[in-house]
Amino acid sequence: MQSQRFYPPAHFSNAAHIKTLSEYTERYQESIQNPDAFWAREAQRLTWIRPWDTVRDVDFHDVRIRWFAGGQLNVAYNCVDRHVQRGLGQRTAIIWEGNEPGQSRKISYQELQSQIEHFAAALRGLGVKKGDRVCIFMQMIPELPVAMLACARLGAVHSVVFGAFSAESLRDRINDSCCKILITQDTGVRGNKQDIPMKAKGDLALRETPSIEKVIVVKRTGATIAMQSGRDIYLHDLLAEAPPSCPAEPMDAEDPLFILYTSGSTGKPKGVLHTTGGYLLHTALTHELVFDYRPEDIYWCTADLGWVTGHSYIIYGPLCNAATTVIYEGVPNYPDFSRFWQIIEKYKVNLFYTAPTALRALMREGDGWPGQCDLSSLRLLGSVGEPIKAPEWLWYHHMIGQGRCPIVDTWWQTETGGILISPLPGATPTKPGSATLPFFGVEPVLLDPSGKELHGEASGLLCLKSAGPGQMRTVYGDHERFKQTYFSQFPGYYFTGDGARRDEDGYYWITGRVDDVLNVSGHRIGTAEVEGAIGMTAGVAEAAVVGFPHDLKGQGIYAFVTPMQGIHGSTDLEKAIKESVRQHIGSHATPDKVQFTHGLPKTRSGKIMRRILRKIAENEPDAIGDISTLADPSVVESLIAERK
Ligand code: WTA
Repeated sequence: MQSQRFYPPAHFSNAAHIKTLSEYTERYQESIQNPDAFWAREAQRLTWIRPWDTVRDVDFHDVRIRWFAGGQLNVAYNCVDRHVQRGLGQRTAIIWEGNEPGQSRKISYQELQSQIEHFAAALRGLGVKKGDRVCIFMQMIPELPVAMLACARLGAVHSVVFGAFSAESLRDRINDSCCKILITQDTGVRGNKQDIPMKAKGDLALRETPSIEKVIVVKRTGATIAMQSGRDIYLHDLLAEAPPSCPAEPMDAEDPLFILYTSGSTGKPKGVLHTTGGYLLHTALTHELVFDYRPEDIYWCTADLGWVTGHSYIIYGPLCNAATTVIYEGVPNYPDFSRFWQIIEKYKVNLFYTAPTALRALMREGDGWPGQCDLSSLRLLGSVGEPIKAPEWLWYHHMIGQGRCPIVDTWWQTETGGILISPLPGATPTKPGSATLPFFGVEPVLLDPSGKELHGEASGLLCLKSAGPGQMRTVYGDHERFKQTYFSQFPGYYFTGDGARRDEDGYYWITGRVDDVLNVSGHRIGTAEVEGAIGMTAGVAEAAVVGFPHDLKGQGIYAFVTPMQGIHGSTDLEKAIKESVRQHIGSHATPDKVQFTHGLPKTRSGKIMRRILRKIAENEPDAIGDISTLADPSVVESLIAERK
């Protein structure tokens, strides 16, 4: 099947950093054939305290990943101070748009530097030093990036936990990395929700977190909250006591910058560890080339700072490039469905980066909402988090980009730190639904299940032979698990967990996860975690969770649940199951459908055959195939009959 092609408009290419496909190919070849020279040159964009000894020391067999070893730098200095020193102090670093229209703040680079230094000095006053872990549990308010960068300034390792996670999830994350400090806010506002309990959830989590010494609370709403004396302190009180300045700590290129927990197919979420030099270089370089960022551009990424996209493409990449980055506290449909487009008009946003799930939700509401806004400032559109399908790609192109803006469909993962497969907007012709070609330094391969490399046009398991400097270094505290999870299936390769197709032009089409990880509204959720949470509900004997296609969320969560002997599957039990998931994980992991059953399809050795459950959830019973290996094939018939 030939798919439609869209060529970069000439006016865009002429002014772009990378102007033609042959220029891309030439630089790509260099990045693969002579990576040391390529990355040493690119690394000049950072300001180093001490130059590195070796550019690259990477081995996917021994699983050793080190970049710029011996070099020293500080991320906060690179993202803020040096811009001020170069005379950009008055440039706006952050535009904060509050939940309510009309509520906003602009923070210049000069102001951001002062705020970071002051916050860092306050943390230092509490005894935080290089290498200590600090947990941040907040909504999208300006103090959140300030807290992240204050940690980076001190060399403390931040672990940001997405604001919708439950107290239990927060507790487990704090304990896994033994955080010393929790930074949170009183309550949060988001859309119609005016009192999201942040500090109260923190209090619950902190009943079982022996490592936490102090809690810093940002006053966002002024809601009355409990403060434990000796432990909890308001940020403004802390700052009143703290000196205004704090030097930036020289960090080794391989010192940790942050931990971010993400879900896999088995076990508890993993603490993905990113380090200093390579991560910053990769995010800054991709931010510049993939979004074709130019000085003075207004750039807006709608992701949440609790996920990797927020870390890399709201904060670290853009600020390292001295960009103006928009941070929005609310949701796309509050107070109405024009909010995103209103914000673009208000700030004359040039570069806009969002997720297909948001596009689907907004597209469904019709063209009237974007139609009433002036979107003429837009120059480029980006997509991330899940496959973008042709209908929303075309709507994005015609309705939002007005046919004028290239779309970059960027594929990457928490683990990769930054974008790995994406068009370069001035160079790469695009095809709706394809993430197109690898970024510099990235060697994707497709393998068959036996580990054989497939060449030319093919479909297979997406693996990487090399991934550039931004890749995760280890699972925090468990290098064995890092090896096991990503490098054991196919020795010498990093396995992404995604499937992909490569077409006649060498373009990649990501088809989605091939493991037991779901992608619900762009949020990564492990089926094993949801099953565990359901299993803790009184009256539940066993559960199996799979994904199913969902119009808005991309994937929905379908739970098959066997009640205990003598217990009936009732609406009350269903409610209890959903509540249990909210309590143990968070509201974003709540199952969309719960089907009670007297049995699950198992092999004679007791293994649940998810393949069958997936087909039932997808409503494709004819595709179930062979069930003769099941211990009790008759369960399949009743599962189909009782499908929700
Ligand atoms: C999926 C988010 C198709 C993929 C940055 C990946 C995508 C997982 C795309 C990582 C894309 C992300 N096209 N699929 N452009 N971008 N994915 O760790 O399945 O939250 O493995 O990182 O999202 O999700 P994560």
